[in-house]
Amino acid sequence: MKPILEVEGLSKDYVMGDMVVHALRDVSITIHEGEFLAIMGPSGSGKSTFMNLLGCLDRPTAGKFVLAGRNVAGLDDNQLAEIRNKYIGFVFQQFNLLPRTSALKNVELPLIYAGSRNRHAQAMAAIEKVGLAQRAHHKPNEMSGGQQQRVAIARAIVNDPMVIFADEPTGNLDSRTSEEIMALFQELNRQGKTIVLVTHEDDIAHHCKRSVRFRDGRVVFDEVIENPIDARDKLSQMPDLEAVEYVPSGARKKSVAADAPA
Ligand SMILES: Nc1ncnc2c1ncn2[C@@H]1O[C@H](COP(=O)(O)OP(=O)(O)OP(=O)(O)O)[C@@H](O)[C@H]1O
Ligand SMILES: [Mg+2]
Repeated sequence: MKPILEVEGLSKDYVMGDMVVHALRDVSITIHEGEFLAIMGPSGSGKSTFMNLLGCLDRPTAGKFVLAGRNVAGLDDNQLAEIRNKYIGFVFQQFNLLPRTSALKNVELPLIYAGSRNRHAQAMAAIEKVGLAQRAHHKPNEMSGGQQQRVAIARAIVNDPMVIFADEPTGNLDSRTSEEIMALFQELNRQGKTIVLVTHEDDIAHHCKRSVRFRDGRVVFDEVIENPIDARDKLSQMPDLEAVEYVPSGARKKSVAADAPA
């Protein structure tokens, strides 16, 4: 497989008055096409900093970074924006959707920046891919957290990026919904998307193919995950939502059959 992200001696310092925070120290790593990488590590260890650099949202203090064969470290803001639009999709913990705007319009947004002509059809195709065709005209506050995250994923894939960066994408979701989101990421990965996903949870990381652990701005662990959890399998073993529906004590739940005409 071809390398698509090649990082060598990457460092990031944040200067705060007369204090310097060494958020990343001399990180070297290669990520290949088709990988599904989990980034782990304690709070403050540099995970988001690393993802923001790889996602061209920020510039390193030192080091080399090659994305799809192109040296990115020296580019200016406009050039970085162009690279982001063309190659990269983002998903965040807080979904980051425009609140008063329909799912469809949210997903169309990157296409506007890219100057694409066939926006409506492209956005609709992405929304169908994440299983939300019925909700295309709903606004974020009319959707569940899991549905909002699906919209965010549709927005991330609408430009057909090479890499998806997801920073704690399941951090605000319950365990079943998290599993559904991981099933979607695994499906995208099977279709060839390279995914880099930051998570605090071991269980979520075990859905990936490789796991990299940060501590104090350095990579301290990098391993292949031998038998990743298949989210589809796990979902099929979870109790049906209907079956665990709460029935107040004393109230007998009417069966559908009892109401049906004879
Ligand atoms: N914009 C900034 N200005 C100054 N310091 C920053 C900035 N962003 C991050 N830092 C510092 O850099 C270090 C790494 O932060 P980072 O956000 O990458 O950690 P993280 O591993 O993503 O943590 P978390 O799990 O809490 O999200 C921390 O010490 C943090 O305080
Ligand atoms: Mg973070």
